[in-house]
Amino acid sequence: MIALESSHLSVVLGRIDLEHSPLTGSCAAWETDHLMELWLPLGCWRLIEILNKRLLSTSITTLAPRWPSPMNSANLVEDFTSLVTAANPLHSSFMKRSLRSMREDTRTELTDYLIYCLSIGLSLDYLADSYNTIVNDTMMEQMFFEEHKRYRWSRFEELAHSVYFDDAYMRKYMYGLAITAFLWPNHVALHDFFIRTFPRGQKGNYLEIGPGHGYYFMQSARLGDFERLLGVDISAASVALTRDIVRHFEIEKKCRAEVVETDFLTFHEDNEKYSCIVMGEVLEHVEDPGRFLSAIAGLSSPSTHIFVTTCMNAPAVDHISLFRTGKDVEDIITSSGLRIVETCYVPYAGKTPAECERDALAVNVGYVLRKA
Ligand SMILES: C[S@@+](CC[C@H](N)C(=O)[O-])C[C@H]1O[C@@H](n2cnc3c(N)ncnc32)[C@H](O)[C@@H]1O
Repeated sequence: MIALESSHLSVVLGRIDLEHSPLTGSCAAWETDHLMELWLPLGCWRLIEILNKRLLSTSITTLAPRWPSPMNSANLVEDFTSLVTAANPLHSSFMKRSLRSMREDTRTELTDYLIYCLSIGLSLDYLADSYNTIVNDTMMEQMFFEEHKRYRWSRFEELAHSVYFDDAYMRKYMYGLAITAFLWPNHVALHDFFIRTFPRGQKGNYLEIGPGHGYYFMQSARLGDFERLLGVDISAASVALTRDIVRHFEIEKKCRAEVVETDFLTFHEDNEKYSCIVMGEVLEHVEDPGRFLSAIAGLSSPSTHIFVTTCMNAPAVDHISLFRTGKDVEDIITSSGLRIVETCYVPYAGKTPAECERDALAVNVGYVLRKA
């Protein structure tokens, strides 16, 4: 494990030799499609290659018994990526690199996820279109960000009806987002961090805020030993997707599982404390991130495992709170009654944290937190 001290951040990237750190890597020699290079923190390709070789004793989830046996799943990932790149040739070299450096366990997970989606009646064309929707829409937001140095929207109501409450759009967005967890190196890194730090066998009650596609919710059901799982999401489409995954994987045979459609800030259960609280990629979606974190602190006991991810300088159709530096996020965390136990900082394209701050480059970050 390495920990690099930047001015504000404890940077933890897993068990990686310093001389191989993606922080010192470069993507200059890569054949690029420029729009994608502008947008994704591709420095983490180095990270992923290193992870391939060195990381993870982590056994990643394969969900027995309800993955249908694949008829011909061997080429499913290739079939999917062919459909993606046929419609979106600009994304071809990104995809090639992604497949080339993909770990075997990640490939298996992506295959399993595609099989799951097919088994609930979705088509591979629809999934490719969903993935391209998030790719293209994020790129549009990146262009806006480059020009205006801010996210397009700053208030929930400006985008809520075109994103969260538009059922067809939100479904595509969430299936597309779930697939990025296997294809985008920054999301792969955060997913690995989630799996590595998850309190396996944890009992008690589990709360997830904004489960979206439901993939993390399902993994938590597998990895934990909770009596009850609760998901709270403001979008009916996200609630439906998470309920689909609960049903399909028969999570309720293992524990009570409930998914509630509501704004987390209006949600409360009297005196309930949770032993694990997960909030992936929600902070940047809300107007007052501090209120979310304070509410989490209020639902926690000192031993609660709290897992939160967010991003800096990373525009998307529904990102409204712009964190420009790690310190922006960490100040909010610590003033919300929480303390940082571990950080996973995934910087842009071989850049240092300081360069990311200076040049407003995208950074993804995950935290394990405790009540202070
Ligand atoms: C980008 S998705 C994240 C999905 C998943 N957690 C992940 O990490 O990939 C954000 C989710 O947060 C939900 N969300 C946004 N604002 C919310 C709020 N105020 N209360 C509850 N859920 C909210 C959205 O509906 C969406 O499902």
